[in-house]
Amino acid sequence: MNYNFDQPINRNQTNSYKWDFVKRGGDKVYWDETDPTRHDKPVLPMWVADMDFPSPQPVVDAIASQAQMGIYGYAYPSPAYYESVVNWMQRRHGWTIRNDWICFTPGVVPGLHLLIAAYVKPGEKVLIQPPVYYPFYIIMDSTDTITVTNPLIYENGRYSMDFEDLEKKCANPDLKAAILCNPHNPVGRVWSREELQRFGDICLKHDVLVISDEIHGDLIFKGHNFTPFATLGPEFSDRSITCTAASKTFNLAGLQTSNMVIPNDDLRETFQAMCDRSGVFTLNMFGILSLEAAYNHGEEWLDQLMVYIADNFRCLESFFKAHLPEFPVIKTEGTYLVWIDFRPLGLDKDALEDLMMNEARIYFDEGYIFGPEGEGFERINIACPRSILVEALERIKAAVETVKR
Ligand SMILES: Cc1ncc(COP(=O)(O)O)c(C=O)c1O
Repeated sequence: MNYNFDQPINRNQTNSYKWDFVKRGGDKVYWDETDPTRHDKPVLPMWVADMDFPSPQPVVDAIASQAQMGIYGYAYPSPAYYESVVNWMQRRHGWTIRNDWICFTPGVVPGLHLLIAAYVKPGEKVLIQPPVYYPFYIIMDSTDTITVTNPLIYENGRYSMDFEDLEKKCANPDLKAAILCNPHNPVGRVWSREELQRFGDICLKHDVLVISDEIHGDLIFKGHNFTPFATLGPEFSDRSITCTAASKTFNLAGLQTSNMVIPNDDLRETFQAMCDRSGVFTLNMFGILSLEAAYNHGEEWLDQLMVYIADNFRCLESFFKAHLPEFPVIKTEGTYLVWIDFRPLGLDKDALEDLMMNEARIYFDEGYIFGPEGEGFERINIACPRSILVEALERIKAAVETVKR
């Protein structure tokens, strides 16, 4: 089947977090139809990481058929659910896992909260690599654990890990865990096997538990290879937890279903006890069905999607080269998020946000929310029909010209 990713779909007033809510001050407010600013010059939402494309047809069919039944009682994954996860990891990533290593959670972020609460005591430390997915900071705040940063190095338009600094930070006995973002949101790096090996060696040497958030692991561009951290070897899989989901891959985030893969028995028991204590007993019925349909029958859609997103990236890159060459576009290796350096504009973070929101009328995830290292950058979500992307690019160009004038 050929999928049409060019077709814009009106998502207004569908309880869409991306389309129906807008940032005002520090809050997200519901942007209802009566708000004149919505009509006068609608804001293009290119922030939160969901896609403006329908999921694969087998997913839509599976959900429609269950929805028609009309009974929406408690749901619990059957063995077929676990099989579809196991088979997906084997087929797509060459990673052999077992059914009983999989613990479900209602989303990766809730899963991360539970993981940190299970393994790290209040006052102990957790390492992250900013600029990085901003809820990581919130997790440490809400579990009374302490965030330690190992900022990425930005050099010649590319990000890499600072291993010297990592070694120093891991040597602190209070540092108990490190959250790896693989592939990395927002900088779009798909970490190489060698980089992961160095990262893993340092963590293992200092007995730092690795929590590898691999939610973007299926969204990889041609020419790059995704390595699940746990495939580095048995010693690494034994001292790590992998966060996985079909939600980014197949646009199912609203169904809140994810899986933590925990090969080590003791770690798994500790985590499962935390889930039980926290009331995570059952899963969203449509999340279960959609994961199975996507993993079992969604590959054709995913392969076409990645070609479309790669073309979107090329479109953005060539637009910037032609019209906005002073702003470096970081080469995205995976994910559908693009990280752009707007520091040459010379604006502070508030002025840049104001320019994009009120002049360009585009809602980006502002670079500074990913940590101070992200100030002056914008993260743009390019998982949208090309016509929307082109409209956004024209708006950015026009807004930037108002500053240059
Ligand atoms: C690295 C990363 N982890 C987790 C999430 C969110 O996961 P969930 O919606 O399953 O909580 C995102 C969403 O953008 C993400 O980028």
